Amino acid sequence: MKLTLFGAQRYDRAFFDRVGRAHFAQCGYRIDYQESLLTEATVALADGSDAGCVFVNDQVTRTVLAGLKELGIRIVLLRCAGYNQIDLVAAQELGITVARVPAYSPEAVAEHTLALIMTLNRHTHRAFNRVREGNFSLDGLLGQNLHGKTVGLIGTGKIGLATARIFSGFGCRVLGSDPVEAPEFLACGEYVALDTLLAQSDIVSLHCPLLPATHHLIDADTLALMKPGAMLVNTSRGALVDTRALIAALKSRRLGALAIDVYEQEGPLFFQDRSFEIIDDEVFQRLMSFPNVLVTGHQGFFTEEAMTEIAMVTLGNLQEWERTGSCTNRVLPD
Ligand code: NAI
Repeated sequence: MKLTLFGAQRYDRAFFDRVGRAHFAQCGYRIDYQESLLTEATVALADGSDAGCVFVNDQVTRTVLAGLKELGIRIVLLRCAGYNQIDLVAAQELGITVARVPAYSPEAVAEHTLALIMTLNRHTHRAFNRVREGNFSLDGLLGQNLHGKTVGLIGTGKIGLATARIFSGFGCRVLGSDPVEAPEFLACGEYVALDTLLAQSDIVSLHCPLLPATHHLIDADTLALMKPGAMLVNTSRGALVDTRALIAALKSRRLGALAIDVYEQEGPLFFQDRSFEIIDDEVFQRLMSFPNVLVTGHQGFFTEEAMTEIAMVTLGNLQEWERTGSCTNRVLPD
């Protein structure tokens, strides 16, 4: 069984090779690592493979799926939880199984959310640079205690819940908004309507999936409902927020601070060294110009534990499908 892994980074190779050797040696899987993302232009790279493996920014459209089918590929393995990048209806019609990694260390993303909030609030990124240059002044580094603040979580699934537990431990009041309420969440927070969450939270953090119903969930209207000066954090998916509306809210000083690990147009930017290139994205560059904006390049998942789990579950999905023709982690259209 041969697998073409698209968008392969050095670390993907390291974890897939290590997990493959340790746990799937008897399966004899051969992995062809391709740096290119899966697109209409690169689909042919999967020629000779039985399975394709993609991440968050591959655009697995109907045309791409049809191309994969022509090459004889019958399973697409998502090495991530989100599946907004794949046309599930087309996959089903073409008889291609789609499997994902539904949960891999939700704490990895929850802890990165905390890291972003702490950095932005206590300005440790600026302090680090100042101290290295012998500048020990504190002007501009004033933060706020998180203890006693209200943190609103939109989405209280696995990552939202892990985040709720962290902030509850900090002594924060934790609010949640989710159409499906989780009893475990009630141990550290309370459910309120979205409008109430936006109006009362000092920090609003997004932990829901990107779906047609959640596209631009945070736009000019919902930003106007937020507490003036509040912080917004998005470690979920870029298109949950309307980036232009964010820029307007930052310019008007209505939004106090913004931390993002994901960006609506991240596809052409993220996961590559572009430090010698001119970045053409004016919206992204405007965002970067604000002193109260912190951006990381989709690294919430990037811990040893999560990477190991991703490789384990992805290869496990392939193994289960090969043995049974089906897969527990299969994703079907709604
Ligand atoms: P999950 O499926 O456990 O939880 C998602 C929750 O969002 C569910 O409880 C669902 O009912 C809720 N939800 C759906 N629509 C909603 C709405 N309109 N308003 C409020 N809540 C809504 O998913 P999990 O594992 O917690 O992941 C959440 C998201 O985090 C993923 O969809 C993915 O986009 C993102 N993610 C980001 C990573 C990163 O590296 N930055 C890594 C992994 C996931």
